[in-house]
Amino acid sequence: KIILILACKIENVLMSMQMKQRDFVTIADLSKEKIQYLIDLSQEFEKHPNRELLKGKVIASLFFEPSTRTRLSFETAANRLGARIIGFSDAKATSVSKGETLKDTILMVANYADVIVMRHYIEGAAQYASEVSPVPIINAGDGAHMHPSQCMLDLYSIYKTQGTLENLNIYLVGDLKYGRTVHSLIMAMRHFNPTFHFIAPKELAMPNEYKLYCKNHGIKFQEHTAFNEKVIADADIIYMTRVQKERFSDLMEYERVKDVYILKNDMLGNVKANMRILHPLPRVNEIAYDVDDNPHAYYIQQAQNGLYARQALFCDVLGITLEDVKKDKTI
Ligand code: CP
Repeated sequence: KIILILACKIENVLMSMQMKQRDFVTIADLSKEKIQYLIDLSQEFEKHPNRELLKGKVIASLFFEPSTRTRLSFETAANRLGARIIGFSDAKATSVSKGETLKDTILMVANYADVIVMRHYIEGAAQYASEVSPVPIINAGDGAHMHPSQCMLDLYSIYKTQGTLENLNIYLVGDLKYGRTVHSLIMAMRHFNPTFHFIAPKELAMPNEYKLYCKNHGIKFQEHTAFNEKVIADADIIYMTRVQKERFSDLMEYERVKDVYILKNDMLGNVKANMRILHPLPRVNEIAYDVDDNPHAYYIQQAQNGLYARQALFCDVLGITLEDVKKDKTI
């Protein structure tokens, strides 16, 4: 009898392991193979974005912070895959304004949806949500910490434009202190032998924890405060970032640094032929509008790649494989 009870318990544990949801909360634990796999999956969706692979599923889109691209591209991804969407883009219009906790909000929404996409202003909120949620959580940005779905579209954009992720010179420019997209990119690129150039004023320098991360993972980097034609001549990717006003406690400091680096068309005369300019957007003032028509500008296409990368993520957290997508007959 004891053996039978033990066997039942082991079976329950194994079943719960098999059923364990696949959250997408951080980029830090993604293997090189998994990154390549998600890129391959994104490529499939770029070939055919309209499929019924998520028919019957409900996606919850919970945005506790403002967003244009991330929210709309996740929602477009869900729509193009045949899912339906619930959610909010203004938490003030929900019971959060009455004091409902994040735990209770997540448990309620998990009653209704198959996947929860969440952006939150608190660092670590997505990890916490994944620990309490019975359905997969996709982190759509948590404070100044991580933006892993942006990272997947950045990797896809780099791969598409350079033909590889290996051995690239990547220049990260602007707000490297608060910019969660650059922090995620450093972690993801650890597999691909990059050389990073961190260009930031001292107030917005790359935090020591990420420099330590580079050292511990053998990632080469140099730091600069100058941003000019000479410094960027060797770049394969220039990744511009916005100075994140909403993260400053001292607005005078923001005023001092907000326009410190502006990429202008006349700085691009000597760059490598295949160099591409990325920006997670929104831009404020850091890329002059005269750059938009330069063939090196790629930030608008980059945002479009977000649709395909996020379609790939929905499938992955729901256990729909590349093989399933290739066999899909719903196109
Ligand atoms: N890149 C990005 O996160 O943009 P949004 O804030 O508009 O979603």
